[in-house]
Amino acid sequence: MPKLNVNIDHVATLRQARGGGEPDPVFTACLAEIAGADGIVVHLREDRRHIQDRDLSLLKQVVATKLNMEMAPTEEMVRIALETKPDVVTLVPEKRGEVTTEGGLDVLSNKELIGDVIKSLGNGGIFVSLFINSEIEQIECSKETGADMIELHTGRYAEAKSAGEREGELASLEESVHAALELGLHVSAGHGLNYKNVSAVADIEGIEELNIGHSIISRSVMVGMERAVREMIELSK
Ligand code: PXP
Repeated sequence: MPKLNVNIDHVATLRQARGGGEPDPVFTACLAEIAGADGIVVHLREDRRHIQDRDLSLLKQVVATKLNMEMAPTEEMVRIALETKPDVVTLVPEKRGEVTTEGGLDVLSNKELIGDVIKSLGNGGIFVSLFINSEIEQIECSKETGADMIELHTGRYAEAKSAGEREGELASLEESVHAALELGLHVSAGHGLNYKNVSAVADIEGIEELNIGHSIISRSVMVGMERAVREMIELSK
């Protein structure tokens, strides 16, 4: 069974919508750990649209499991990662206007830059994962850059429109996992995984970790709503 890392970016998205202090992603991380999460994932974006530098720094202090910082391979982010020292950095592509991370890193076209970033982070004792599409060339190139792990993008599987398409994506993921393991890479997977589609990916042997955000944060609103309303009614009596 793969480990579960919980991405808490969207708690920060909600906080930023009001510009105040709640809900606090740091508190959320503690609750996720109490519930059994094996790790906490946050993406410090260049535009700071959700997670802030303050969050990352506090999470480094309170996360007792494993802190995985997603970031673009830029000078600014490398500096922050080396200062903060998360357990893991996941390098992701970043486009300013995108709603979420749309595709995997193009390691083939950015091999030198990614290799340099991995070297700098590795010298700082940070384990590095590359978020890539399920493509053999990208996996082989990831190995050549010196990455420790790859995270396979499961978006195409999650968005498959038919059973046939879904099976095809699963087969591709399985093939990629085998290829990566043969090269000595650790493997994780994520993006678009939810309560309906997670099992098939979790069943792929060799995937060590799943990184899941949106569906868990969405569900926490649903399962928590009733209690939240009851508590407010009590206080307003
Ligand atoms: N893995 C990576 C690299 C991501 O960028 C994201 C989204 O922030 C996830 C996993 C989680 O995706 P989702 O929010 O769809 O579960």
